[in-house]
Amino acid sequence: MQLFLATLFRAAIASVIFALGLSGSAFAVEKVRSAGKAVYKKANCVGCHKWHGGGGGGYGGMALSLRETPLDTAGLTMVIRCGRPGTRMPYHQRGVYGDDERHCYDTSAEELEGAMPPRAHYFLKDRDIAAVVEYVQTWIQGRGTPGYDDCVAFWGADARRCKSMAPTRPDNE
Ligand code: HEC
Repeated sequence: MQLFLATLFRAAIASVIFALGLSGSAFAVEKVRSAGKAVYKKANCVGCHKWHGGGGGGYGGMALSLRETPLDTAGLTMVIRCGRPGTRMPYHQRGVYGDDERHCYDTSAEELEGAMPPRAHYFLKDRDIAAVVEYVQTWIQGRGTPGYDDCVAFWGADARRCKSMAPTRPDNE
């Protein structure tokens, strides 16, 4: 009997730990999304790449589609950190083109001259860059045409701008 109880007890503990683990990981996913999304908004990726990452014409010129980008983690990190010389894609890390420093593309501001990418309005720390890379990979890259669900995930369920994308619209709206 005692052995039975002990086994039962262990099983109960195990399932509690399992449940905690599950909710923990759901929580972790949500946390990544909100941290990454906050960076995506704050650093104004939205201004050029649009909320859905589809890019197109904006005040920064033609921003490439992050939904269709073939870049991997290292590639995304590099472009966000260093910008892209010769284009309007800004660099987001302080000092990467500073004096005698060759942190990006093995080059310097002096060598790049007119091809220097613009400097971002907000500089990002390594962990912000990692968060926004993960956000792009999880919620934007490879996700096809943006739809109602993407809109609501970004702007919230009450967002008026998502209404026109809703799959079924009540007639009286
Ligand atoms: C001022 C406008 C502007 C802002 C702000 C901006 N981008 Fe860009 N981005 C561009 C343009 C323009 C390009 C295209 C560069 C080119 O033609 O190669 C680009 C390219 C990229 C690329 C390369 C895509 C590829 O497939 O080569 C990535 C990744 C990217 N941007 C991510 C971001 C993220 C993330 C942010 C916010 C932290 C951001 N960008 C902010 C304008 C902008």
